[in-house]
Amino acid sequence: MDVYRLLYPMRTYIVVAGRGDETNVMAADWVTVLSHEPTLIGVAISPKRFTWELVKRYREFVVSVPSVEMLDDVWVAGTKHGPGKLRETSFELVPSGSIETPSIGNALANLECRVVDERDYGDHTFFVGEVIGFSYSKKAFPSGKPHLGAGFLAHLSWMDFVTFSNKIYRPGKGR
Ligand SMILES: Cc1cc2nc3c(=O)[nH]c(=O)nc-3n(C[C@H](O)[C@H](O)[C@H](O)COP(=O)(O)O)c2cc1C
Repeated sequence: MDVYRLLYPMRTYIVVAGRGDETNVMAADWVTVLSHEPTLIGVAISPKRFTWELVKRYREFVVSVPSVEMLDDVWVAGTKHGPGKLRETSFELVPSGSIETPSIGNALANLECRVVDERDYGDHTFFVGEVIGFSYSKKAFPSGKPHLGAGFLAHLSWMDFVTFSNKIYRPGKGR
């Protein structure tokens, strides 16, 4: 058994890297927040990924938040190699506000990152990015908080994905 699967379900994101014809996308579960001020996030990327080469070369990446409606495109991003796959998706690449790497216009949010650190851990490289720009859908984040109806995507196992129910639990209120 792959022990890391005991940490699932995990949210699934899209990492965008590169620019121009070289722009590439990959699915990524292994994304985390590291610091609030400055805002630092990290993503573990295998050196086997074309995305890894692009992040190494350009020292920037975008973490995009897809919705469950985008699952077919997420699956293409997570199973095919290199920029040609973008033609098979409906990802709308749009200019980012703060970096050269494009964002995904139809995603729920985009975090524009400049690489400030990286380190190899086992078979992945952990890239730390400072978030220097962002964009988001006002419908998905009214008043800055997530609206569950937007269909946030999480990964259960292999080809199985889930989204969140609308039921909200609060501590001390019973179930
Ligand atoms: C749901 C899902 C999550 C994934 N998460 C990661 C991840 O966190 N890190 C990673 O290196 N690869 C991850 N992968 C694998 C890459 O997305 C996949 O190998 C992709 O084809 C790489 O594309 P590229 O070679 O064009 O960069 C994931 C795949 C899927 C389907």
